Amino acid sequence: MRLDIISIFPGYFAPLEISLLGKARRRGLIDVHVHDLREWTHDRHRTVDDTPYGGGPGMVMKPDPWGEALDTLAPPASPDVVPRLIVPTPSGRPFTQAMAAELAAEPWLIFACGRYEGIDARVVEEARTRMRVDEVGIGDYVLAGGESAVLVIVEAVGRLVPGVLGNADSVVDDSFAPGAMETLLEGPVYTKPPVWRDRAVPEILLSGDHGAIARWRRDQALRRTVANRPDLAAAFDPAQLDDRDRRV
Ligand code: ADE
Repeated sequence: MRLDIISIFPGYFAPLEISLLGKARRRGLIDVHVHDLREWTHDRHRTVDDTPYGGGPGMVMKPDPWGEALDTLAPPASPDVVPRLIVPTPSGRPFTQAMAAELAAEPWLIFACGRYEGIDARVVEEARTRMRVDEVGIGDYVLAGGESAVLVIVEAVGRLVPGVLGNADSVVDDSFAPGAMETLLEGPVYTKPPVWRDRAVPEILLSGDHGAIARWRRDQALRRTVANRPDLAAAFDPAQLDDRDRRV
């Protein structure tokens, strides 16, 4: 998978060199290219923003550098592989695990990191004439720019790229992983030692009774979902709940 990231703060993406994604890059599973938007400016001050038409606070990113950047990375006349453009913005569609899985199957993603009040709307409008564009929000809060949102999206997508995670099973159990109960949160986890600061690991996990352990884990997951995400619990499909679930 190829990823191009365009930003006025390319240094923001240094974390993509470490940990799981850094290893995936070195193994050739993910090919990341970070670009400085200012490479596509032509004035002495390398200007990327201007005042908003119609007035109002803040500045808006000028369309010209963005248009040139996208033309350079994905020339309009070479449609062999067409990238999908992701524009992080609090006004976008909510980013979900399902969207991460969908993006993980794409051969090429371009991320356009906006700053200030956002990017001149004609950039997305024009890009849509030749590639799929998704405006994506990672949560109901406003960040100072799209960079940290792109780090979040790239990490969620990257770990789903085949071969990136050592153990394929670790994706299956995730909270929000597609499955019988897509909306069940993961329960608590424990490792050695069996007693730590007078706190014992729940005995059932040491019992070796895999059926009982699976049932206990499901109870814990249900409890956690009800406590932390009543919105998800309210949307449970009653057909997916058994009698014991209902007692939890
Ligand atoms: N840029 C600023 N805030 C954002 C958010 N919540 N999600 C995605 N991009 C953003």
